[in-house]
Amino acid sequence: MDDLRPTPPTVPARVPLSNTPLGIFGSLKAGRENVLLLIPEVATRAPILSGRTVKRWHMVMDPEALRRILRDRVEDYPKSVVTKLILEPAIGDSLFVAEGQQWLWQRRTAAPVFSHRNVAALAPVMTAAAERASARIAASVGRAADLFDEMVTATFEVISDVTFSNGEGFDRASVHKAIEQYISQTAKVSLLDIIGAPPWVPRPGRMIAGSAMKDMKRVADTAIDARRAEGAKQVPDLLDLLLAGEDPKSGRQMTTAELRDNLLTFIVAGHETTALTLSWALYLCAFDQDVQAAAREEAQSVLGERAATAADVMNLPLTRRIVDETLRMYPPAAFLSRTAQAQDELCGREVRPGDTVILPIYALHRHHDLWPEPDRFDPARFADPKAIDRFAYLPFGDGPRICIGANFALQEAVIILATLLARFRFTRIPGREPKPVMILTLRPEGGVWLGVERA
Ligand code: HEM
Repeated sequence: MDDLRPTPPTVPARVPLSNTPLGIFGSLKAGRENVLLLIPEVATRAPILSGRTVKRWHMVMDPEALRRILRDRVEDYPKSVVTKLILEPAIGDSLFVAEGQQWLWQRRTAAPVFSHRNVAALAPVMTAAAERASARIAASVGRAADLFDEMVTATFEVISDVTFSNGEGFDRASVHKAIEQYISQTAKVSLLDIIGAPPWVPRPGRMIAGSAMKDMKRVADTAIDARRAEGAKQVPDLLDLLLAGEDPKSGRQMTTAELRDNLLTFIVAGHETTALTLSWALYLCAFDQDVQAAAREEAQSVLGERAATAADVMNLPLTRRIVDETLRMYPPAAFLSRTAQAQDELCGREVRPGDTVILPIYALHRHHDLWPEPDRFDPARFADPKAIDRFAYLPFGDGPRICIGANFALQEAVIILATLLARFRFTRIPGREPKPVMILTLRPEGGVWLGVERA
């Protein structure tokens, strides 16, 4: 009898990039479905691509030009208007969206909050979430589970416990629902929105999500005021640290509204991105059982029966490399965008004020000149991090606007991944490969379904 099972793919799931770079921009439908479909295949071979739809745009894949945009000439390339339009209703003029002085003082105030020492002190929250995730996944042994769903739960527990730790009437579930609703209804931004649609075009989702957003802000404000009255916790969480923080230059402290917008920013920016990293990492481990076996051996020898802690992270180098390689292959922020403010030249191309500059991180990370066999999963690429061109690998961006939570996310990902790999074996389910789709982040459509067995 014929074997009707699907043939297993030879490389992990990837986005079928388009081969018709110009024509594709006419296809509204493709853009609505999957932004990455609009990144042409040739973006993984060229340093820069330029064109014009409603506006002039450039897609930049050249590390030197990326260094110029993100670091050397950062003032000339602020975040694009569309990025702000999407995020502002949710998170105000917070760290993520602010520019100039308004950004600078908030960054100076928030930077110490994410110091190595403070992030390490928050690790017990991550260890506890890893334990709870293990307990839930244990119930699926012998069956399939949606690991994306599990990881969203785990990372949301972490971020809500380190921002508004329980106990002050902060309802974790309702905030989670409001954010999910906002992201799914409002943020279906496509590359076409970024390069084309004028800002006044109504986005219907935004209005529906508005009332949930208002409720969420009210809940957060109440929690902040309660904490102000109560004083800091024994182990200060992000709210305590930010409440106590002040701009070292001006002494300015954040108001309740500023604190709330920034804490909500941490929740929005921090939980789904980290959940994606973890679930893509588990998928890749299921894809390559040899890597998974080696990582399991590492995790078991370091951890024994216990869940990972901050002190273990430095002893889990392979787990860390798996996370690094996952962020290369499936960067949650798969493209960034900027609006040029000044006349400039990138890779010999003229850039004019008002041009949209797209940084397609997904294509950069799979660029043929920068990465040998870019579609292959190979954590060994990161064995010597110094050998990697800094501007060829940008999962967290770079320059002054680099992700403030990068260390927090990496610590959390290693703690949860090592704990799970020590305890379970994950396998692929034939015919159920995850499909990467770009919404606001690079998401696996329909989840990441894997078989779960005891290790
Ligand atoms: C794997 C997880 C994460 C990824 C891939 C990620 C990615 C990024 C990227 C690419 C940027 C730069 C955006 C740009 O330049 O346009 C960024 C900025 C930012 N991220 Fe993350 N992030 C992650 C986790 C987190 C966490 C855990 C937090 C907070 C707890 C966080 C908070 C922020 C903030 C506040 C900014 C804006 C910083 C500024 O403009 O000064 N992120 N992130």
